[in-house]
Amino acid sequence: MNNILVTGGAGFIGSHTSVALLEAGYSVVIADDFSNSKPQTLEHIKEITGRGFVFCEADVTDRATVTRIFDENKIDGVIHFAGYKAVGESVERPLAYYYNNLVSTIELAKACVMRGVKNFVFSSSATVYGDNKAPFVETMPLMPATNPYGETKVISEKILSDTAAANPGFSVALLRYFNPIGAHESGLIGEAPNGIPNNLMPYITKVAKGELKELRVFGDDYDTVDGTGVRDYIHVMDLAEGHVAALKKMGGGVSVYNLGTGRGTSVLELVTAFERVNGIKIPYKITPRRAGDIATCYAETKKAEQELGWKARRSVEDMCRDSWRFEAGIKKDA
Ligand code: WQD
Repeated sequence: MNNILVTGGAGFIGSHTSVALLEAGYSVVIADDFSNSKPQTLEHIKEITGRGFVFCEADVTDRATVTRIFDENKIDGVIHFAGYKAVGESVERPLAYYYNNLVSTIELAKACVMRGVKNFVFSSSATVYGDNKAPFVETMPLMPATNPYGETKVISEKILSDTAAANPGFSVALLRYFNPIGAHESGLIGEAPNGIPNNLMPYITKVAKGELKELRVFGDDYDTVDGTGVRDYIHVMDLAEGHVAALKKMGGGVSVYNLGTGRGTSVLELVTAFERVNGIKIPYKITPRRAGDIATCYAETKKAEQELGWKARRSVEDMCRDSWRFEAGIKKDA
């Protein structure tokens, strides 16, 4: 299995995974419509890896487009990242989220089954565990999501599992990401959300840059180490390498893996680590809880360790350093 189609390959996790794939010797076809990413990222992937790849500017909800990609390229496996991912926006635009995230999964799975492409890796999320009690284990029953974004992950997992059950030989890996942050060590690629960030680390780096005045810490009355929310932050390059490990192990049926570190870090612990590593003060104020947030989320990581031989190895300090390097690098170029 040498030729991998990466949908959303110019996005945050997709670009880092494309780097990991190219460095592991895979041939890569990237499909992206730049709806939440930039063409310049593709140049940076080339610069980092010194390797070329095929690029298709493509909306993978469109059947004719998907057909063309499969007609024009040799594809042995698909890693499907392309999708909308803003929780709050999904509540306001449910139809856009259900349409985009589900139709793309269906069209890509259909193209694979029709052409005998046997390997499908799906970008899922710890959000499928809802407010189960951490650590989250792959065997836990899934909870109905509290927002349409989360629901698209639950439903996509189901669509792909049912497809695998009906098509022996079609392998699916459902990778449940915890909270990816950090950036490639080069500082050339990273997370660049449009507008004001929703997620914690991109918000912190904007405050560090002086573009936003202060961080709002959403609640300090949770039952956690310091009252602020606890999450399992994972370096995006560790996550990227987890995809390569999952691809190497594909071999029939459905496999589900948590990709996290197994360690929880509170909001204030992350802020403190960022300040220490980068020598920049992050002003913050405590505000009420954000609707829909849970207190604590972290992974049980044994399954990925034992079956994939993969383990996240980068520290929270590495994540803080690399996130800032990328953001500061943008400033330097501008
Ligand atoms: C982390 C912690 C907040 C912002 C979400 C999605 C999930 C996945 C990743 C991906 C929480 C606190 C945050 C801020 C804060 N989706 N926080 N001030 O909510 O764990 O996960 O993103 O595509 O599906 O739900 O991540 O980074 O938003 O929040 O205090 O300005 O930081 O309350 O405790 P979350 P997050």
